[in-house]
Amino acid sequence: MVVTVLAEVRAPLDTPVLPGVCLTGPMETIDALRSKRDTRSYANEPIDREVLETVLDAARMAGSAKNMQPIRMVVVTEDADKVALKESGDYAAWIDNAPVCVVVTAKADAGPRRMFDVGRHAQNLMVAAHASGLASCPVTIHRQDVARSVLGIPDDVEPSMIVTLGAPGPDMGPSPIAGPRLPLDDYVAEGRWD
Ligand SMILES: Cc1cc2nc3c(=O)[nH]c(=O)nc-3n(C[C@H](O)[C@H](O)[C@H](O)COP(=O)(O)O)c2cc1C
Repeated sequence: MVVTVLAEVRAPLDTPVLPGVCLTGPMETIDALRSKRDTRSYANEPIDREVLETVLDAARMAGSAKNMQPIRMVVVTEDADKVALKESGDYAAWIDNAPVCVVVTAKADAGPRRMFDVGRHAQNLMVAAHASGLASCPVTIHRQDVARSVLGIPDDVEPSMIVTLGAPGPDMGPSPIAGPRLPLDDYVAEGRWD
C-alpha cells in the first residue's frame, strides 16, 4: 500500500531508521506509521472536504472479523455537539479544540473482536490523516449513553472512541504521558516469551 503523502511527514523519528531501508516510494508508508504522534492542539480552520473524505475512505478499507464490517463513523463538526461530547469521556475536556471529532462506533452484536476492529479503523483513519498533513488523537468514550444521546446513536450500536482531527496548532510540547517506545528487542520475543 502506498499512502499518498500530501505533506512532509519526515518528522524526527524516535528510533533510528534501519540501515538499508528506502525512505522514498512505498516506504513513505513506514515513515507515516513511525512518525505519527497523538496531538491535542489544532489550528482554528476547517478540514478540506476532499481531504476528510480521503482519510475516511482509508479508514473504511480496514478489515474486520469475518468481514462483518460492524464499524460506522459519525463526523461531528457542530460546536454545540463537540461541547456536549466532552461529557462522554473522562479525558475529553479539550476535544472541542478540534475542527472535527469522528466518533468510531461498532455494532454491538458483531462479536468479541469488535474492539479490535474499532482499533484497526481508528488507526487507519489517524495514519491517513497524518499522511495528509492533519493532526489527530484518539479519545476514549467512557459514557456511551452520552454519545448516544448527543448524536442519536441507537442502543445496538456502541460509540467506542472519538478521533479528533484538524490542521496542527501551536506545539504544546510533549504530552506528560507520551514517551519514547520500548526498544525493539524488548517489544519482540523470538520464538519463545523470553
Ligand atoms: C485506546 C487509547 C485511548 C486513549 N484515550 C485517550 C483519551 O481519552 N484522551 C487523550 O487525550 N488521549 C488518549 N489517548 C492517547 C494516548 O495518550 C497516546 O496514544 C499516548 O500518549 C502516546 O502518544 P504518542 O503516540 O504521541 O507518543 C488514547 C490512546 C489509546 C491507544
